[in-house]
Amino acid sequence: MKFNNTKSVLSIDFDLESYFAEKTKTIKNELINIINKSNSFGQLSKAMEYSLISEGKRIRPILCIAAAESVGGKQSDVLPAACAIEIIHTYSLIHDDLPAIDNDLLRRGKPTCHAAFNEATAILAGDALLTLAFQVLSEFELHNNTNALKWLKIINLISTAAGYMGMIEGQMRDIASENTQILLNKLEELHILKTGALIVASVESGAILANASLDQIKQLKIYAKKIGLAFQIADDLLNAMGDPTITGKPVGTDNVRKKSTYPSLLGIDESENYAKKLIKEALHALAIFDNKSDPLRAIALYIIERNR
Ligand code: IPE
Ligand code: IPE
Ligand code: MG
Ligand code: MG
Repeated sequence: MKFNNTKSVLSIDFDLESYFAEKTKTIKNELINIINKSNSFGQLSKAMEYSLISEGKRIRPILCIAAAESVGGKQSDVLPAACAIEIIHTYSLIHDDLPAIDNDLLRRGKPTCHAAFNEATAILAGDALLTLAFQVLSEFELHNNTNALKWLKIINLISTAAGYMGMIEGQMRDIASENTQILLNKLEELHILKTGALIVASVESGAILANASLDQIKQLKIYAKKIGLAFQIADDLLNAMGDPTITGKPVGTDNVRKKSTYPSLLGIDESENYAKKLIKEALHALAIFDNKSDPLRAIALYIIERNR
């Protein structure tokens, strides 16, 4: 997808590739530390590690860190929250791929968890990852005693976004919308819940932990809501016409399952245009920030230009 008419935006002099490389390495190392704390090397922890330590883009934890840095915060202040969110996201992918949900066999370039292990193990690995995320969030504050109320707020906002008021409600509506045409405003709501909620929580938790002002948080949430929706539209487009050797997941399956998606409702061109419009609006929301938010700007552009 090409981003037109945004010369000023495209002139951001920011090396996103190096930024991603550095952050994904840090996140992967921290996830390895977390998962290796378990004394059990049985089937359950093997399945958890199989899905967690794989080639994900790590966009949510990177957004959490970038949001913190945009308001002058440090990566180390938010790393447990960033990792907890990635752990929740990984669990959601394991369950999303199950036969009862999307029934997919390829994820992050390798067999899905239930294909590599078995269905019961994949369900349990997902359950264990979801609970591990909250263990990580609570343990950090128990050991470091930085600001219990702030961490309680983070736990509350992440659990709200991940649960029945956010991601899981989105997943429920996604399943209910198979084999039926839903209205565009309903699809937008679905995408905001299914994918947007956790992306907003990633940015918001980074900002809160970095002591952002209320005004900064408000603008960052607008940014996150726009890129969250654009991220799922791009995911729909990649399912329609991506390259599975690059996306690391199957292509064409939304169509086979008659899912409600942006390309199925709006067509390819209009979906692309809408995603671009959202990204322009997201960038506009960052107008009050200085160049510390260039990573967030570059990530917004990446979301619609990505091929994986
Ligand atoms: C895929 O998320 C599922 C969606 C919510 C769109 P990602 O595209 O972030 O998947 P990974 O983490 O890179 O594998
Ligand atoms: C996945 O949505 C969303 C969650 C896991 C919450 P999709 O089913 O559209 O994502 P992919 O395309 O399988 O990654
Ligand atoms: Mg799905
Ligand atoms: Mg899926």
